[in-house]
Amino acid sequence: MNLFENTYLGNSQSVIGKRFAWSCPSNIALVKYWGKLDIQLPANANISFTLDECRTETEIACFEKNSSDQFEIEFFLDGNRNEKFEKKILTFFDRIIQYCPFVGQLKLVMNSSNSFPHSSGIASSASGFGALALCLITIEQEIGTTLSELELQKKASFLARLGSGSACRSIYGGVVQWGQHNSFPCSSNLFAQPMENVHSVFETYRDSVLIVEKGEKQVSSSVGHNLMNGHPYASSRFQQAEFNLNSIKQILKNGDLSEFTRIVESEALALHAMMTTSSPYYLLIKPNTVNIIQTVWEFRKETDSNVCITLDAGANVHLLYPEADEKKVNDLINNQLVEFCQDGHYICDRVGNGPSSITQLQHEL
Ligand code: PMV
Repeated sequence: MNLFENTYLGNSQSVIGKRFAWSCPSNIALVKYWGKLDIQLPANANISFTLDECRTETEIACFEKNSSDQFEIEFFLDGNRNEKFEKKILTFFDRIIQYCPFVGQLKLVMNSSNSFPHSSGIASSASGFGALALCLITIEQEIGTTLSELELQKKASFLARLGSGSACRSIYGGVVQWGQHNSFPCSSNLFAQPMENVHSVFETYRDSVLIVEKGEKQVSSSVGHNLMNGHPYASSRFQQAEFNLNSIKQILKNGDLSEFTRIVESEALALHAMMTTSSPYYLLIKPNTVNIIQTVWEFRKETDSNVCITLDAGANVHLLYPEADEKKVNDLINNQLVEFCQDGHYICDRVGNGPSSITQLQHEL
């Protein structure tokens, strides 16, 4: 039996009339997860920085169920009922009901909002499923659980993973690793874990997200992950990621920023190389993605800056750099890069401490 099944003791009716709320940040992968083995198990181990400013706040209110449907939910995004997300949540609930039976015993009304602009091109699935999973865990805690605080956090990561793979990393702050890997003791495909003893330079690392394209991308991440099945370069890509994860572990401890740049940029380009060589092939980067990358590389040649780029599965560019380079990089953005951003839009973020419970909202309805 799975560690997270049958973990609660009380009666789900005890939470009727209560609400639970969390704020959860997004994250940016340094070594990328691309390809799945089974339901949301990573084909390769991966690692990320948890962000600070880009967050989702979610509140769940619990009511008595009054229909015989398996699940009774309402989901509101920024105050508006959102049926597209309701469908996603129903699929998620189907996956988690064996670990959280109360999702089928209560009517759950969810209210969610993102700190970053809607459709800005920043993926909200990591922060969104992270916040949702944490609310569910707090409900379990209120009902009564056999799990310790640490196990509950693990369970939150486990549940978040079943919504969106990368969401399992957002449950922890700082540098977070997910997926079984020999260099990381206790690592698991089922949930993420925070990395210990990270060099202090990374504690205040910056991430400026340059928005090249707003709105939804043409090919979703789940389609992209599936195209790794039977991909001609899949096994070399998984080996490369395993190798890069081993290297970046050392770099994250010793603070070697030029090696950090080499691995992180290579990972970003390898991710997009998988897209351009899959069948069917596709391209998510845009001319301005390339313009930004080339400008950053020129800038790095001419200055002693440690700024580097990374990409998620989209056209936007994340600039990662140490706090000490903040002024230089802000000047670079304002003088040379902002013209490549849609409507001049970019978001300044940094490595953060992880999710926070919004306790003042946890009062009786
Ligand atoms: O968690 P998903 O299914 O949205 O996939 C995330 C994939 C990447 O963002 C491209 C890489 C990663 O590790 O976050």
